[in-house]
Amino acid sequence: MPTVFILNGPNLNLLGVRDPSIYGRDTLADIEERCLARAAALELQIDFRQTNHEGQLVDWIQEARESADGIILNAGALTHTSVAVLDALSAAQLPVIEVHLSNIFRRESFRHHSYVSLAATGIICGLGAQGYERALDALANLIEQESDEANQ
Ligand code: DQA
Repeated sequence: MPTVFILNGPNLNLLGVRDPSIYGRDTLADIEERCLARAAALELQIDFRQTNHEGQLVDWIQEARESADGIILNAGALTHTSVAVLDALSAAQLPVIEVHLSNIFRRESFRHHSYVSLAATGIICGLGAQGYERALDALANLIEQESDEANQ
């Protein structure tokens, strides 16, 4: 079964209690549960993780390069600051879906720029927790397309 890393950056461990009017009431554990159910239906295996540390995120992206078929990334605030995360994603050469719970374009202007987007295949933002499930749908398609192309 193809493996997808679902990686979450700083402060996403606080989901459910942090600004619920912006991020919703689902906790990260709720989102993981929804992802597990969706992944099972799509016949994908997922590895769901969260860290508050930039270097840890870089290490996990490098790990994905070796052992995953795609990445779903909500890098939290590192989205807007981290060239290191961008470089790791570029080196991974995997399909990447960037996810944000909130619509970053309706918020402060410093959230409008994303380093992650420069390496992302696609972006889903503003759909809340559902965005992660839609990202899995998209990745399942992309991974299938890639394996069809490889078999031609
Ligand atoms: C976020 C948006 C970021 O701007 C913010 O720093 C986050 C969460 C989102 O999921 O909407 O931590 O990535």
